[in-house]
Amino acid sequence: MLRCAVVGATGYTGMELIKILLRHSGVAIAALTTRQQESIPVHQLIPNLVCKTDLVIRPYTVQELNQAADVVFLCLPHTEAMESAAQFRRAGKTVIDLSADLRLRDAKTYERWYGEKHTQPVLLKHAVYGLPEVNRKRIAQADLIANPGCYPTAAILALYPLVQQKLVDLESIIIDAKSGVSGAGKKAKASTHFCEVTENFSAYKVNSHQHTPEIEQCLSGAAGRKMRVTFTPHLLPLERGILATVYAKRKPSVSPQRILDAFAKSYKNEPFIRLHPKGSFPSLRHVRYTNYCDLGIEADSRSKQVIVIGAIDNLIKGASGQAVQNMNIRFDFPEEEGLN
Ligand SMILES: NC(=O)c1ccc[n+]([C@@H]2O[C@H](COP(=O)([O-])OP(=O)(O)OC[C@H]3O[C@@H](n4cnc5c(N)ncnc54)[C@H](OP(=O)(O)O)[C@@H]3O)[C@@H](O)[C@H]2O)c1
Repeated sequence: MLRCAVVGATGYTGMELIKILLRHSGVAIAALTTRQQESIPVHQLIPNLVCKTDLVIRPYTVQELNQAADVVFLCLPHTEAMESAAQFRRAGKTVIDLSADLRLRDAKTYERWYGEKHTQPVLLKHAVYGLPEVNRKRIAQADLIANPGCYPTAAILALYPLVQQKLVDLESIIIDAKSGVSGAGKKAKASTHFCEVTENFSAYKVNSHQHTPEIEQCLSGAAGRKMRVTFTPHLLPLERGILATVYAKRKPSVSPQRILDAFAKSYKNEPFIRLHPKGSFPSLRHVRYTNYCDLGIEADSRSKQVIVIGAIDNLIKGASGQAVQNMNIRFDFPEEEGLN
């Protein structure tokens, strides 16, 4: 059995990881950590696990964790995760970091968008961006995996075939994305409490969201040139889910059928991508609590816009499910283990 530790297990992504790892036949949960002083029974935090597990979440020392675990999932806020990642890598552990700390290859770009100093720039050279549909071969060899952000997962998967095969004008890309409130984590904030969010719908961080450089970095890799995108996030009055509607101008020489064929071919063997048939589009209800990214494509529009709609559960394919998918690839488990 592969021994797993979840650091930051009381947060939203940590709680989802506990549920997924308990269903996985090849792993044992070796440690669940919190900074809080007292032990917290898992079923107290996740009541639908009552009578299903005696696991507790408690404070651990780094030494205890190094002895207990082979793989460490970091479910910590950004800037908190980088030091932990360095410690666990020094001890030879495989680290899967769900925060943004290791996703950008350039420390200066991180500092510009996150407004904090990057204290572990050397790690950025070794971290592999954990988007299986793009990087599966590298993930299989990686000991430091930077799990993608939730918006980037939905946006990149909706755009990748178009950009990689240069089927659209690369200057024309617009990402209009909407997220449920759990995307902001568990800590209470004025902007995300019930009265602010309920019966409301609004844009935020227009053209300035910190996931922008992550999307651009991955798409630039696909295009083989520097890419810029327009990205507008919105907050939905829902607990979970991301719906990203992306727009790009089809090149005059590219037929609508070629666009559809590109998606079909690129994602033919992907266990967690579901392509909707022509004229049908995804919705959040059908991806909730799943590791699927559902995509619907409209390539025929009079305006020559290609419109792709991508839907994911931000806490599963956008975080903990994708982290387990990465672990499965890295440790040669069936890719869907624990995730169906
Ligand atoms: N939520 C999403 O949809 C999503 C998607 C993709 C990626 N992510 C990323 O994944 C990471 C975890 O996200 P999350 O939504 O699970 O966050 P969260 O709900 O806020 O949980 C983070 C946990 O980290 C622990 N922690 C340790 N040091 C902390 C500190 N200095 N300040 C606050 N908490 C601290 C806390 O546990 P104790 O108080 O018990 O110690 C807390 O429960 C973040 O970096 C986030 O950006 C989140």
